[in-house]
Amino acid sequence: MKIAVINFSGNVGKTTVARHLLLPRIPGAELIAVESVNADGGHGAGQNGSAAQSLRGRQFAALQEYLQTIDSAVVDIGASNVEELLNLMQLYRGSHEDFDCFIVPTVPVPKQQQDTIATLIELSRLGVPPNRVKLLFNMVEATVSVEEAFYLLLAFLAERPLAAVNTACRMRANEIYARIRGLSGDQADLARLASDDTDYKGLIRQSCDIAQRLSLAEKLATHRLASWVVPEHDACFEALGLVEAQAPPCASSDEPPPDTARVSTIADFVRAEPASEQAPRAAP
Ligand SMILES: Nc1ncnc2c1ncn2[C@@H]1O[C@H](COP(=O)(O)OP(=O)(O)OP(=O)(O)O)[C@@H](O)[C@H]1O
Ligand SMILES: [Mg+2]
Repeated sequence: MKIAVINFSGNVGKTTVARHLLLPRIPGAELIAVESVNADGGHGAGQNGSAAQSLRGRQFAALQEYLQTIDSAVVDIGASNVEELLNLMQLYRGSHEDFDCFIVPTVPVPKQQQDTIATLIELSRLGVPPNRVKLLFNMVEATVSVEEAFYLLLAFLAERPLAAVNTACRMRANEIYARIRGLSGDQADLARLASDDTDYKGLIRQSCDIAQRLSLAEKLATHRLASWVVPEHDACFEALGLVEAQAPPCASSDEPPPDTARVSTIADFVRAEPASEQAPRAAP
């Protein structure tokens, strides 16, 4: 299964959804981050003032080729590259068909809902049918329904049904994401954090050191938040109905899926030379 996570808006949770909701639930999937890359190969704003580059045709071509070689991927498209990616998809006619599904996370802020509408219109212009575009309602507050929080967007969709809408595809605002920001591996693995059976309360009782008690209390709180969020992600993933959208696996592949998900970034494609001059890209 190959999924693109996309929205013209920044900060709607594309990376969060890609990393924490989708990647752990799609066996063997590789995460590919299409984000701005500096001339020095770093991500985001250049430390030495180098300008961020957006996706270019050659990188998109390499990304497309690479997607043909793998069975499952979650492609997280950073906001600064969405416009370019959609332009390139138009040039490479039919390339959107490489994705089984486009997941569009959105948040209640009106400006972000407007950007979400613009994203849905662009996907539709590209020829992506509504059943392959799925909205994911993110940062929903406990006291407000999806219908109320996303009134603008849902009113638009009632007129122009450009995406599949299931209000069960939702994620509450949760502090856990701030707690695990910048962490990787087991420390950012929500399922692992949720199943952590350390007796933190017992350890806190035994400790006389305030700093240690605070550190243990923090871990206990993270465990509790993760225990809430994992079943929420399970329910949201099920509501997305991705299993039905999944293409059959490659018949000749009898390799078992890898234990750990692979992660690569567009930087791997940035350095790629034109296809005719280069050796195949090494697996990250
Ligand atoms: N449900 C949520 N509850 C609380 N915080 C959240 C939630 N979803 C995402 N966030 C936080 O919002 C911020 C933006 O999320 P994220 O980086 O996933 O957005 P993005 O769409 O990938 O942005 P960009 O386009 O800039 O890459 C992050 O700090 C993330 O931890
Ligand atoms: Mg992101």
